Amino acid sequence: MSTILEINNLKKTYDSGDRHLTVLEGINFTLQAGDTCSIVGPSGSGKTTLLGLCAGLDRASSGSVVLNGVRLDNLSEDARAQVRNQYVGFIFQNFQLIPTLTALENVMVPLELRGERNVQRQAMDLLARVGLAERHDHYPTQLSGGEQQRVSLARAFSNRPTILFADEPTGNLDEETGDKVEKLLFDLNREAGTTLVLVTHDLELAEKTQRIIRIKGGHVVSDTGAPETVHQSEDSNLS
Ligand SMILES: Nc1ncnc2c1ncn2[C@@H]1O[C@H](COP(=O)(O)OP(=O)(O)OP(=O)(O)O)[C@@H](O)[C@H]1O
Ligand SMILES: [Mg+2]
Repeated sequence: MSTILEINNLKKTYDSGDRHLTVLEGINFTLQAGDTCSIVGPSGSGKTTLLGLCAGLDRASSGSVVLNGVRLDNLSEDARAQVRNQYVGFIFQNFQLIPTLTALENVMVPLELRGERNVQRQAMDLLARVGLAERHDHYPTQLSGGEQQRVSLARAFSNRPTILFADEPTGNLDEETGDKVEKLLFDLNREAGTTLVLVTHDLELAEKTQRIIRIKGGHVVSDTGAPETVHQSEDSNLS
């Protein structure tokens, strides 16, 4: 088994004026390739912030994030974007679709960035998998919240990520659509070995993952399903 994500003593502070708000502190965990993990905790506890740091969307104040052997906190913005495009899928809590592009074009973006062929056909196939083939030419404002969420899911799948981060992936969906999305996520894990990291308030969904990390007030308060804790040496050889 290989380590896909290693979080060491992570801290995140937001500074506004002379106020410092520490949102996360002392976060440590390691995921192996192919793991499924949920991050749960109350609203405002730092889940979205943590997911963004793990995926290299944002930079920690201190500590380190090693994704697929690459230490993200040493990289420039551009280099992190490259790592994301190569390995990471991300489903945002607020979708973050590009408003001037149709559903189909939104899904095509990561494929085009990778220089893939048959981009349009691949994107259509992905939209069909989330049940939105017929809405491919709609713009985000013409789609419901749940539909936007499914476009976001198709886009996250499109670069065949090694690791997929999903922030409340079923949060805006009715039960039936939520079940479909859940199945897509776990199929991706089973069939392609994609590591799944989900943030969810749905405890039934969380219990379907091997690992549940609970955070409260910016700290990990429990971590169930983790393998025996391995203490990393201070000078572990991070590249
Ligand atoms: N850019 C920012 N500047 C200042 N404070 C921020 C910023 N982003 C988040 N915060 C604060 O950090 C804390 C954690 O926010 P975060 O979005 O990570 O919570 P969450 O656990 O995802 O909550 P929810 O379940 O409501 O989505 C909150 O108190 C929030 O107000
Ligand atoms: Mg959140």
